[in-house]
Amino acid sequence: MENNHTIQSDTERGLSADPKFLLPRYLYDEKGSRIFQQIMEMPEYYLTRCEMEIFTQQKENISRSFICDGSPFDLIELGSGDGLKTKVLLHYLTRKKACYRFFPVDISKRINDDLVRQLKREIPGLYTRALNGDYFLMMKELNKISKNRKVILFLGSNIGNFSDDEVNLFYHNIHQVLNPGDMVLTGFDLKKSPAVIMNAYHDPHGLTRDFNLNLLVRLNRELGADFDTTCFEQHTEYNPVSGDVKSFLVSVKKQEAEIRMLKKVFYFRKWEPVFMERSRKFDLKIISRLAGENGFRIETNFTDEKEYFMDSLWIKQDKNITL
Ligand code: AVI
Repeated sequence: MENNHTIQSDTERGLSADPKFLLPRYLYDEKGSRIFQQIMEMPEYYLTRCEMEIFTQQKENISRSFICDGSPFDLIELGSGDGLKTKVLLHYLTRKKACYRFFPVDISKRINDDLVRQLKREIPGLYTRALNGDYFLMMKELNKISKNRKVILFLGSNIGNFSDDEVNLFYHNIHQVLNPGDMVLTGFDLKKSPAVIMNAYHDPHGLTRDFNLNLLVRLNRELGADFDTTCFEQHTEYNPVSGDVKSFLVSVKKQEAEIRMLKKVFYFRKWEPVFMERSRKFDLKIISRLAGENGFRIETNFTDEKEYFMDSLWIKQDKNITL
């Protein structure tokens, strides 16, 4: 179970706000992670397949950029999950006898340890070590024990779930822990036909709805709440100007929910929305601006054939950035 104080205080803050919100990081309890796995397998959720296509079709070029001048490097994946896409690179890099070590960083110790166990079996000879905990604390730890070049992976368009402030803070923190010449590869989901995007996030199977409603079930279980999940419906909107996909749960009637651990009752107006998650879509102009403003230079952009997704490889420039 997640640190209860955090889920407790974040829920209190979100449901007391106007408009109401809940934080997407709490979508991933055990059941939520399973539903997200099913979402990734839906034909409509193109993101995973497009990024996999980039990794399988362009592993030579990606690896060549990582290997760079041939000096040893540490490959660090933030939020590694099942590591499926990364394994494609790891197999290739190992076959090419690249001099590197792999450090998956994840909050979930169980998932991370599983990945390392699998990798040790599948790629004998690969040095890999799980780092469990906060991304930046772990990177600081790693800096203490290794002076190698660093290549950071942040895949799957996880960056799209951050607010603008969180995006800037994320790259600022990465910039702080890297040396000039170190690299970061980020997966960005690109702007495209709104119909394609809506199909992925307002799917005909109702999995995105279940994914969001599951957070109410989690609050019922972990905070002693009494949400009636049949009284909320899922709504998704896409704004092609900002690139924002926003997901909401909308209260279908005037209702209240008690959260016993907060000793509070929250009131919902009929059709009142609760903002659940942002899944931002990007374009090259935004990506270039993000790189420049955060002290990086774009080395190469890798895209899939349809140009739905982009893995953008940046190199840290030799200058300091203040937030
Ligand atoms: C984890 N993240 C990149 C997913 C996304 O596409 O924003 C989460 C998700 N939410 C609904 N569907 C998928």
